[in-house]
Order: sequence, then structure tokens, then C-alpha cells
Amino acid sequence: MYTPNQLQEVIENAVQNIKYPTHPEMLYEPISYIMSLGGKRIRPVLTLMAADLFEGDINTAMPAALAIETFHNFTLIHDDIMDNAPLRRGKQTVHEKWGVNNAILSGDVMMVEANKHLSMLDSQVLKDALNTFNATAQGVCEGQQLDMEFEEQDVVSITDYINMIRLKTAVLLGGAMKLGAQVAGASPAEAEQLYAFGENLGIAFQLQDDILDVYGDPEKFGKQIGGDIIANKKTLMLLKLKELANANDLLELEQQSINKDHVDKIKSTTALYDNYSIRELASIEMRNYSDKAFSALSSLQIKEERKAELFKLADLLMNREY
Ligand code: IPE
Ligand code: IPE
Ligand code: MG
Ligand code: MG
Ligand code: MG
Repeated sequence: MYTPNQLQEVIENAVQNIKYPTHPEMLYEPISYIMSLGGKRIRPVLTLMAADLFEGDINTAMPAALAIETFHNFTLIHDDIMDNAPLRRGKQTVHEKWGVNNAILSGDVMMVEANKHLSMLDSQVLKDALNTFNATAQGVCEGQQLDMEFEEQDVVSITDYINMIRLKTAVLLGGAMKLGAQVAGASPAEAEQLYAFGENLGIAFQLQDDILDVYGDPEKFGKQIGGDIIANKKTLMLLKLKELANANDLLELEQQSINKDHVDKIKSTTALYDNYSIRELASIEMRNYSDKAFSALSSLQIKEERKAELFKLADLLMNREY
């Protein structure tokens, strides 16, 4: 079995070797920029780990891994426009550097590049892979739409929130794993089991991302701290706070939601989170979902030692700082 670190390196090399056209420069430069800024490469690692789990060849699965990572980076470019985000992986976001219109179009062409990677898969697995990829990509768009709608919505339930993050984030982790399993010739039932692992892991992953958005170290996180607070994102933390806050604090929270002074808004809202131990409550919820992921992986009929690296990776992700 490969370790996540080994696969990360294999993917990093493969990503650096992708050749994009050079003209028009304004279309292709942002793609090389975002793809070479690094990031954790979690999703393609999951694809290759899934393939490896079923004793598939990681090189055969590589086009699926690259399709997933390219698609992910495309969603980041568009997500940063939607979230008005200045920073990504410690650097200027694509729309800040090249303008919104260029960011839209470079993102679009990345979707095409993702499909080009996918088309390199063996023809026997291509149809299933395409179905998985398309269902995943559509889910992400649905989740992103809900995420934006919730910004304007006063009442959002925790169930609504979990479903939204399942779509915007978790289906991609699940889909990445399912693709790897399919390419390696796993049975449909096994592929679904691995999907369940990835999806629950993805929900925990987004909960952690939301926690880091408030409590992360700006140097390590690489994104603007408090971006979700500024945008009035309906994160689990905000929903829990609304559930628990007394009348005075609720009023304060409501006033903060329209505060134009962003520094003050972040400071005051974070202080409310602190008062109600919201970080701890969100961490408990995150653990619930990582436990669900672990039990999905446990019930997979595969030798335990073959699963060990996946368990380790999941654990590392839950304790990450970026
Ligand atoms: C960012 O994903 C988007 C979320 C779903 C939270 P990652 O945290 O995996 O970003 P990179 O690719 O490592 O930069
Ligand atoms: C990520 O949600 C979802 C997608 C990129 C599809 P966020 O908006 O929380 O991701 P970050 O924090 O900007 O990476
Ligand atoms: Mg964002
Ligand atoms: Mg977003
Ligand atoms: Mg985030």
C-alpha cells in the first residue's frame, strides 16, 4: 500500500507535467497559477488510495485523479468570486489578479481540461467514470447554489446546512473515492461503500474548514480569516449560536450581520462564539461524521491492513491546520 505522502508526491509530479496551451495567455495563465499553488491534493490522493485499496494500478487511475483535482481547482476559482475572497493558498485569488471575467472563463476551460483527463481512462470503465464524475460535478453546483441562497436566508436548519455541505464539498470526496474504486474494478457495492466513507469524511472536512475559517492561524490557513462571518455564511457554528444565544446576544448578532466594519464584525461575532463554546460544539459534530466515515470503512470486506493508510489519512485531516 502506498502512503498518502507518497501519493501526494506522485500527484504533484503529474500535475506539474500537465501541458496547457499557451494562447491566449490570459485564459491559460490562471490555470497554471492555481494548479501550481499546491494545496493538499486530498481528492486525487483519495482516488489513488481507493484504486490501490482494490489492488488497481495507480497509473491507470491517474487520469481520474487529475480530472478530480482539475475540477476541484476550477470550483475554487469560481467559489472565490462568489465568496469575494482575496486569498487562496496564501496568494492572491485568480479574480483579484486577472479580473472576474477572466476567472470565469479560465474556470470554464478547466472543466473541459478535467474532461480531457477523464477521456484518457480505459474504455471499459469510462462510462461508469463519466457517470460518477457528472453526478459529482452537478452536486457541487447544487451545493454552491444553496450556500449562496442561505446567505440571504434568516432561517436555515442544521439539516439544511448538512445537506448543503454534503453537496458542495462531500460529494466530491465521495466521488473521488468511488472513481478510484471503479477504475480498479471494484464491485458496485464496494464502490458505494467507499463513497459513503468519502461523503461522511467530506462533511467532517467542511465542518473543520468552517472552524478554521474563524479560528485558523492566517499564516497556515492561507485564506482570509473571518470570510464566512463577513459573508453571513450559515455555518453550523452560526446556527448553533442562534440556537443558544440569549435575547441580548441574539440582538447583538443581528446587528453584527449588517456591520460594515468587517474587522469589528469578525471580532464581535467571534467573541460570541467564544462565550457559547461554539468551537467545541462544532468539533463534536465533526467527530460524529468522521466516526460515521470510519464505520463505513470498517464494514468494507477488505483486509484490515489494507485500510490502515486511509484511516490514518482521515485522522490527519481532522487535525489539520489548513
Ligand atoms: C477547499 O478545499 C475547499 C473546501 C471544500 C473546504 P481544500 O481545503 O482541500 O483546498 P486545497 O486544495 O488543499 O487548497
Ligand atoms: C467550498 O466551500 C466549496 C467549494 C469550493 C465547492 P468554501 O467556500 O468554504 O471553501 P473555501 O473555504 O473558500 O476554500
Ligand atoms: Mg469560499
Ligand atoms: Mg464558498
Ligand atoms: Mg471555507
